[in-house]
Amino acid sequence: MQNTRAEFSSKLAFILAASGSAIGLGNIWGFPIQVAENGGGAFVVVYLILTFLLAYPVLMVELIIGRHAKSNIVTSMRMVSGTRTKVFAGLTGFWGVVTASLILSFYAIVAGWMVAFCLSASFNLIGFNQFNQWLEDFSLSRNLIFTLVFYLFTIQIVAQGVTAGIEKWTTRLMPALIVLIIILIVYIAGQEGAATGWRLYLQPDFSSLFEAELILSALGQSFFSLSLGVGTMMIYGSYVSRSENLVRLGASVAVVDVAIAFLAGLLVIPAMTVALHNGVEIYDGGKLIDSDGLIFNVLPALFSTMGISGTILAVIFFALMTIAAVTSSISMLEVPVAYAADRYEMKRSKAAHLVGTLIFIISVIILINFSTLFSFVISLTTRYSEPLIGLLFCVFAGWVWQREKILAEIKQGLPEAEQTLFWKIWPTYIKYVCPVIISLIFWHTLVAS
Ligand code: TRP
Repeated sequence: MQNTRAEFSSKLAFILAASGSAIGLGNIWGFPIQVAENGGGAFVVVYLILTFLLAYPVLMVELIIGRHAKSNIVTSMRMVSGTRTKVFAGLTGFWGVVTASLILSFYAIVAGWMVAFCLSASFNLIGFNQFNQWLEDFSLSRNLIFTLVFYLFTIQIVAQGVTAGIEKWTTRLMPALIVLIIILIVYIAGQEGAATGWRLYLQPDFSSLFEAELILSALGQSFFSLSLGVGTMMIYGSYVSRSENLVRLGASVAVVDVAIAFLAGLLVIPAMTVALHNGVEIYDGGKLIDSDGLIFNVLPALFSTMGISGTILAVIFFALMTIAAVTSSISMLEVPVAYAADRYEMKRSKAAHLVGTLIFIISVIILINFSTLFSFVISLTTRYSEPLIGLLFCVFAGWVWQREKILAEIKQGLPEAEQTLFWKIWPTYIKYVCPVIISLIFWHTLVAS
């Protein structure tokens, strides 16, 4: 089986696919908003530190387990555990499969809104305004249709497989994403009011640097942003060739993810202050308008103050969001699809259609019961499941899996692994530091809610 298993065809292909997973709505939407709400540049500093000290080590856990096992995440977890813990390891993997599916079920809804707004702006551009109200208003019909459209993109790509689907599309879409984001940053930077945003973003207010709330939000954000804690990176790791240096690959993904989040801040925060300058309301009773208000009200209002170039910007912005969402959603769907294909010996394309349809049905249930289910599913998966599964991944790698085997796996592609700084620090790190800190954060989440 190992000989026939698909692999990414190059380092770059893996980096683009994995950073495509990492770079998503979390970076372009979540990160800038958290920055704005948490002391500007101070949040950026904490986020950078935490990404490299805590999220990167966990990313490496997933990549190493994945490449070692070269299988779906349930089998992978069973392979790194002893006989006594096998069942528990398998259950942890399965919990990852369920969580990845549930994350997709709400992510696709939000992504559908991005598609609808992109279409609405495109219609505006050609002067065809008939459907715009419907496209931009929150209605069940609009939501159902665009969630479905988004699933069709996602399922289609995953059905084609690792190289012909995931790799092909991420290597096309990621460069496009980078170009679009730079065009937007440059344009917004030239507008009046942008300088205030740059200052807010880049000048840290260090007084809030050590607030527990800030640190917790930054950690949650960095885990979500690197797609950790559901086996996404484990499954992508399973498609990496044994001749690659995983330590370096993982670091590249973390750097690219952080760099794009940083760029997104350079875009969204100055855009907000330009909006303020143009008379758009961005505060609500002294507080920043909440996050979906910012994306779906403030930004469109800003674009509409800029005439035709604003309409073009709107098309570009929502296209950017759609691209970022697609490259992430395919990585979520890949987790249950790889599992179903192995477990039930199904062809990949059949598994993709079947599993995709099942998760779409979950999205429909969420949409019908939006006010009760939407934020519940988000919180259940991102606040509870992800950190706990991430913690279990670390426990398995740090306490259950033999250290020599881990070293042997890293040495494939990095023969001098033993002498590296990485090997001197990382094993202790994932054994003690990561589990303790994740537990503390989890405890805080429990107490706070
Ligand atoms: N990282 C993506 C973002 O920033 C979201 C994402 C993709 C994700 N795959 C994931 C989040 C798996 C959690 C788990 O938007």
